Parts: sequence; C-alpha cells; structure tokens
Amino acid sequence: MRILVLGGGAREHAICWKLKQRDRLYEQPIETKIFCAPGNAGIAQVAEIVELIPTDVKAVVGFAMRERIDLVVVGPEGPLAAGVADALDKERIPVFGPRRTAALLESSKAFAKEFMQRHEIPTARYAVFSFEEQIECRAFLRHVNYPAVIKADGLAAGKGVVICETEAEGTHALDEIFTHRIFGEAGARVVIEEYMEGEEASVFAVTDGIDYGLLATAQDHKRILDGDRGKNTGGMGAYAPAPIVTEAILEQVRREIIEPTLKGLRDEGRMYRGVLYCGLMIGEGRARVVEFNVRFGDPEAEVVLPLIDGDAAELFLACAEGRLAETLPIKQFPASAVTVVMASQGYPESYQTGEAISGLEAFTPNREIEEGIVVFHGATKLDERGRFLTSGGRVLAVTAVGFRDDLRETIAQAYNAVSEISFNGAYYRSDIGKKALKAMAAA
Ligand code: AMP
Ligand code: GLY
Repeated sequence: MRILVLGGGAREHAICWKLKQRDRLYEQPIETKIFCAPGNAGIAQVAEIVELIPTDVKAVVGFAMRERIDLVVVGPEGPLAAGVADALDKERIPVFGPRRTAALLESSKAFAKEFMQRHEIPTARYAVFSFEEQIECRAFLRHVNYPAVIKADGLAAGKGVVICETEAEGTHALDEIFTHRIFGEAGARVVIEEYMEGEEASVFAVTDGIDYGLLATAQDHKRILDGDRGKNTGGMGAYAPAPIVTEAILEQVRREIIEPTLKGLRDEGRMYRGVLYCGLMIGEGRARVVEFNVRFGDPEAEVVLPLIDGDAAELFLACAEGRLAETLPIKQFPASAVTVVMASQGYPESYQTGEAISGLEAFTPNREIEEGIVVFHGATKLDERGRFLTSGGRVLAVTAVGFRDDLRETIAQAYNAVSEISFNGAYYRSDIGKKALKAMAAA
C-alpha cells in the first residue's frame, strides 16, 4: 500500500509510525510505502519526505495521482478546511478526513454550535454575533452570567478562546477581536457561551459516515505549567485511556453525541470519513461538547494510536472506502499510554531553535519492542553532521506504552525516557497523568 500523510508534527510522526507497523503484522512479507508532507527529521525515519504544502490542494492531488497513492491520511485541520478531501474524492483517491462542509464542525465554531442545537446535542448555551452586531453583542455581555466564554468563530490555532470573569474582561476581549482584529478573519464573528464546570476529556470515533468505532479515550494537558496553570498551549502531554470517561459516560456519549452527530451530518449531506474528535466537559455525571475537531489531536494521537491492536492502514482505508463495518469491532491493547512533550523554553511564546538534542540515539527499535518506548518528533531537523536540532516549540513527544494496564508504571516509564534526552532550554511538565491517578484513587 502507498500512503500519503499530510502534516509535520508529532501527531503525524505517530500516524506514520502506526501505519508502518502493519508490515510486522502479516505472515507474508508486505511493504507499506509511506510519504509525508512536509514531515520532519524524525518522520524521515519511517516515511519519505515530500516537499509539499498540505493546504495546496492542487499540489496534493497532483502528487497523489502521479505516485499512485492508495490512501491519503490528513493530520491537521487546515487542509480539510481548504477542501483537500473533496478534491481527492473527485479523483477517486481514498482519503481519511472529512469533506469541507463537514470540516466546518471545527473550522467554524458558530456552525458547530448551530449544528449541535439543530440536532439536540448537549453543549453550553450560546449566542453568535457578527462584526456588524457589536452593539447587540455589548448589550448581551451586560446581562450574561460570569464567567463567560468568548470564542473567535474561525480557526485560530487553539488560541481563539477567552474565559472572562467579568463584563469588563468580556468587553476587552471583544475590543481585541473586533477592533484590533487579533484573530484576523477568524474573528469576524464571535460565539459567546456559558462556562461549563467539570473536567475535560476526549473521545475519538473513526467513521465512514455510517458506521463508527471508538478508539481509546484520552486526556490532554493544555496549560504550560504543572497543576494546569499558566498559558494555553497546543498540548503538553496526554495519556490514554482516561478513567474519568466511565462506561456509563461513554454510553451517554455514544447515544447523545456521536450517533446524533453522524446522523445529522448524513441528513445534511456532509460526507464524513475520518476521525471525529469530541472534546468533552464532564461534570455532574454527564458529558457535554466543548468542541469538535475533525482530525486526531496532538498530543492525543501519540497515545491513542499506539493502543490500536491491529492494522491502522486497513482501518483508515476501510473508513475512506465506506466499508468500515468489515473491520469492526476495533481491538485495543489492554494497556495504557503516556506521552510527555519536551518543548523549547519560552513556548508558547517566543523561543530559540537550532539547539542540538542529545540522547536520541539510545531509542532503538529494540527498546520500542522490549520497553514500549517511542519518541515522536514534533519539530526537529538535521544539521550537516546528521545531528538532530530543535526547530519549533513542541520538539518531542516522548511516549511510553505500558504492557499492563498500570498507569503509574507507564508514567514512570515515560519520565525515565525523558530523563535520557536533553537540549538547551528543554522544558516539560512533570505531572502528566497525575490527574488520572487521582480520579482512580477517588473511584
Ligand atoms: P476550544 O478551542 O473551544 O476547545 O476551547 C479551548 C479551551 O477553552 C477548552 O479546552 C476549555 O479548556 C476551555 N473552554 C472552551 N469553552 C468552554 C466552556 N464553555 N466552558 C469552560 N471551558 C471552556
Ligand atoms: N491537543 C488538542 C488538539 O489537538 O486540538
């Protein structure tokens, strides 16, 4: 099979790695050829790097046709919002990722809220205002309950959300979005919503638009500092499965969130073949939707994908070709996984790049098999002597897959691996997974 993966972070490294593992699964030797655009130096160990911009839809389709690609797997949301799945579909190239009209679930928060309201999917109450409706919007802010949440409608790289404690903070946020246009076009409309109390977790459904299967549940750590303090980031670590998502909650999520969402998409003619990421707030024994993403999370992918017991390429292809029922149920390893992100000092604000990374040589395929340790690269490049250098904010996602369902042990495994790696200014959180231990102790 020839597969093209779009994207270039640790999530895409995990996707390529998982796809490549199918070569070990069959008795007759098979060879899976993986291409990744734009990839990074770590991904180059498992895939051939292609110099393509993933949002350049024409170039992606051209490459896929020339190289007789059997499956395209889309990592980030940008290419989906740009219509890459629509264009590939037109050429009958199987693609794991939804069409543009379905990707709106992530690319427009106003669309997502209206969709959830139409299909009675539990979420926070909300109102939408455009730039032209500023007077009404400011009046609305006078009467809402605080804290309130203000969100830019469009894609803002995870930064478009402001939690406001007072009306003054709300008005300030609005000035920033509408007058100073800090989110640009993404802030042409805002969603104002009720603040939900609880704990966040994510559920991932892979689907061909009709049938679906669940992957492991996960919990991200979005804040930069231990104890969930400090600035929001893309995610500083994750673990799976998340004990806060109990069987009862998962059942509610299937019935009240995933099934009505897939049915709603179908009824509205929005073709969805890919993974639906349900970001949930869990409180008072039930889950409500915080956000939908139309792709895997980063760093959630790094813990969810290693737990799939089987051929992920066949699973994604079955979704892309509308025959998922053939591969259900999806088997999972009865294990836990933990990933710790090693970031550049200063992230999520400004930071240095080009720092030499030491210790990576020790992570051989043997250790992967014997110890369940794998280091996914988020932002690395090679220097002329073949050493890995840092090239971005989230540099590495150091991942441990426990052989037993013992999260405490898996956390220790991941941090042991982290301690073997160093670069100037390396920063990581030291409490990834602790929340789960607390939840389990309380249960
Ligand atoms: P979003 O980009 O919509 O996922 O929002 C980013 C983060 O803001 C979420 O992961 C939550 O931590 C927080 N957040 C967003 N909406 C709400 C809400 N209605 N209530 C509480 N927290 C929220
Ligand atoms: N880690 C959160 C996200 O990928 O959206």
